[in-house]
Amino acid sequence: MTVAVLGAGKSGALCLAQARRSLESRGKLLALDISQKALDALSAIGLCDEALKVDATQGVDVMEAVQKATGGPLCDLVVNCASVGNTEMASLLSVKDGGTVIFFSMATSFTTAALGAEGVGKDVTMLVGNGYVPGHAALTLDLLRTEPSLRQLFEARYV
Ligand SMILES: NC(=O)c1ccc[n+]([C@@H]2O[C@H](COP(=O)([O-])OP(=O)(O)OC[C@H]3O[C@@H](n4cnc5c(N)ncnc54)[C@H](OP(=O)(O)O)[C@@H]3O)[C@@H](O)[C@H]2O)c1
Repeated sequence: MTVAVLGAGKSGALCLAQARRSLESRGKLLALDISQKALDALSAIGLCDEALKVDATQGVDVMEAVQKATGGPLCDLVVNCASVGNTEMASLLSVKDGGTVIFFSMATSFTTAALGAEGVGKDVTMLVGNGYVPGHAALTLDLLRTEPSLRQLFEARYV
């Protein structure tokens, strides 16, 4: 799978760490953020294969950056963890037909997502990021405990 995570902050870093673990050494992991500092921190600990500096409110630019990074194909999965609004189209344009977008960001307009998909003719599965999943706290703590570089990143950026 090609997986893109839009917004490389706290939730984005955790998603990338879990995706890296689930994909083992297969697939391609793209981290996208407006902050070069956030991208550099993730790249330094190997949490992504490609770090793309983009403004997620610019849908076409994001799609083109993704295509440049993959050599053409769009993503199987996009996880939207960006903390600003108006990023729905970047997610939709970056995923392939039949793919999945998880709108974890609470800045998501679900009207824009649904009607935006219709507008660009994208047949994708759209999931609302549920704040609760059984075992979510244990899974997060396990990631932080077993990935020392991820923990270091959190301690450096957020403690
Ligand atoms: N679904 C749920 O249950 C649930 C639970 C908790 C949180 N959330 C939501 O998830 C989102 C992310 O939370 P978080 O704690 O991971 O936030 P965070 O740590 O602030 O990360 C968000 C990232 O998005 C980046 N960003 C801001 N504007 C951007 C743009 N135009 N283009 C690309 N990237 C941009 C930020 O960069 P800068 O730092 O440079 O601004 C930051 O790196 C929030 O909307 C939050 O409400 C959802």
